[in-house]
Amino acid sequence: MTILVTGASGNAGGAVVAALAAEGLPGRALVRKEVELPAGIEAVYGDLNQADTFSLAGVTGIFLLSGYDRVEELLAKAAGAGVRRIALLSSSSIAGKSTDNAVAAYHLAAERAVIASGLEWTFLRPNSFMSNTLRWRDQLRAGDVVRVQFPDVPISTIHPLDIGEVAVRAMAEDGHAGTAYRLTGPVALKPAEQVEILGQALGRKLVAQELSREESHQELFASMPAPYAEAIEGFFADGNVDETSVTDAVETVTGHPPRTLQEWVRENAALFTDG
Ligand SMILES: NC(=O)c1ccc[n+]([C@@H]2O[C@H](COP(=O)([O-])OP(=O)(O)OC[C@H]3O[C@@H](n4cnc5c(N)ncnc54)[C@H](OP(=O)(O)O)[C@@H]3O)[C@@H](O)[C@H]2O)c1
Repeated sequence: MTILVTGASGNAGGAVVAALAAEGLPGRALVRKEVELPAGIEAVYGDLNQADTFSLAGVTGIFLLSGYDRVEELLAKAAGAGVRRIALLSSSSIAGKSTDNAVAAYHLAAERAVIASGLEWTFLRPNSFMSNTLRWRDQLRAGDVVRVQFPDVPISTIHPLDIGEVAVRAMAEDGHAGTAYRLTGPVALKPAEQVEILGQALGRKLVAQELSREESHQELFASMPAPYAEAIEGFFADGNVDETSVTDAVETVTGHPPRTLQEWVRENAALFTDG
């Protein structure tokens, strides 16, 4: 068994790499530049938008990110190369009230392409990642006030390593084919509660400045292309997505409860202080 991990230098893919290495399973990391990889994981250089830039020889499972070009070509190549299983990183937006938005659209397109490929599939539909906490990093470097959008919405954010471990289980063992897992963290926290946890870990008294809907709108649309900002506003301001509920999927698949935000912050505290 050899698993190819796409997005291996990122939060989710990096966590899959870490989970593979922790289990002593062989893996290949699809990367575009040199990155440090754990023992047992070998680098494969290529562009995810162009399946002809990397080899799939010997690969049995792929951890696949959604939203890349020509995914049908990659999946056809995978089927031809003897790949059996795909663990697709989709999102909570697919399970929302409406999939009529830019974020759900690209995840849905990827899910449909994977189903059409005829390969065994498992869909991972996680909540927002704990690593999104890093969006506050610049504010923390500037002072102790953190402006928080959609302050009334509690979210059970998920530790990327829990996603990584579920992905590895889905590719390494039987029993996950044809399953879409709604993955959440252990507890729903409002942004101000998340800021408090961050402050405790960093030994700082941080203050959450709660933005109004209009202020949240302005900040969001200034930070990303409008179709994505519209989607996110729909998720949290209009309640199109439920990221508050907690599921037992992580524990069912991995055998342990989901990791806490306190753990993620402790592990990543240096990222908020180092230049
Ligand atoms: N963040 C959330 O809350 C959330 C929630 C649900 C689902 N998701 C999904 O999760 C995905 C991954 O999130 P993340 O936080 O892990 O993202 P990330 O940290 O930004 O990582 C993205 C990865 O994709 C790689 N990549 C980008 N373009 C590529 C290309 N053309 N060819 C090969 N590799 C390429 C990047 O490589 P380089 O290092 O070379 O740039 C990086 O390793 C998101 O895109 C989203 O679809 C996210």
